[in-house]
Amino acid sequence: MNSRKLIVGNWKMHPASVDDAKRIARRTRLVASRLEHTDVVACPPFPFMQACASRRPTANFYIGAQSVSVHEEGAHTGEAGAGMLRSLGATYAIVGHSEQRAAGDSDEIVSHRLARVVEAGLTAILCVGERTRDESGAHFDVVRDQIKGSLAGLPEGKARSVIMAYEPVWEIGAKEAMAPEEVHEMSIFVKKAFSDIFGPEAGLKAKVLYGGSVNFRNAVEIIHTGQVDGLLVGRESVNLPGFTELLKEVDKIQ
Ligand code: PGA
Repeated sequence: MNSRKLIVGNWKMHPASVDDAKRIARRTRLVASRLEHTDVVACPPFPFMQACASRRPTANFYIGAQSVSVHEEGAHTGEAGAGMLRSLGATYAIVGHSEQRAAGDSDEIVSHRLARVVEAGLTAILCVGERTRDESGAHFDVVRDQIKGSLAGLPEGKARSVIMAYEPVWEIGAKEAMAPEEVHEMSIFVKKAFSDIFGPEAGLKAKVLYGGSVNFRNAVEIIHTGQVDGLLVGRESVNLPGFTELLKEVDKIQ
């Protein structure tokens, strides 16, 4: 486990107005700037990204995009290219989120999005996770196949440009997060799958986040017992009191 923690806030389609987005970003940036061991990424909806990015770089605080086009530019109505998102202030971009996979993203499409992100010099946060789980253990195959398929074609030298985020789909938007012991099992599995592709050294350096119903109450235990490098946080990332508490508590983990 790396000693620095990475907390990524996936705002999804929230909040309703740019003024609210600016308020959440300002507060998150302020809290982040006081942390010592934690980096924070806020991923607002596309139209709010620029307003949320600070003009001057702030220590520990970054902006991420929630998705990215498979195209660079051209006649693609409704799409936003990685270079464009970078010019709005993005340093990171989420790819392969289960809500996008459910809307039609195959591993191949995810691999194209990921390629655009890396080519543009951004860091990709690659989401993987099974939709359901049973006793058969088939979820391991599902996650391994997603990792293989989504990373297909990524040159070995670019392995550092990808952060893995394990998000069991059945835990997203749920009441409780996954048990930290199970998070640990999956973080080891994801690192192993990553090292099978890029080699043991890249596997050791790989960062793995957990996402799915993380809040200020369970965050520390998930990182500590789950042995993950950070968290991908949905609902709690736009709940300022909860997210502030989460960041402060996570920063105390040694
Ligand atoms: P949640 O969402 O924290 O609201 O469960 C996580 C995610 O979808 O990334």
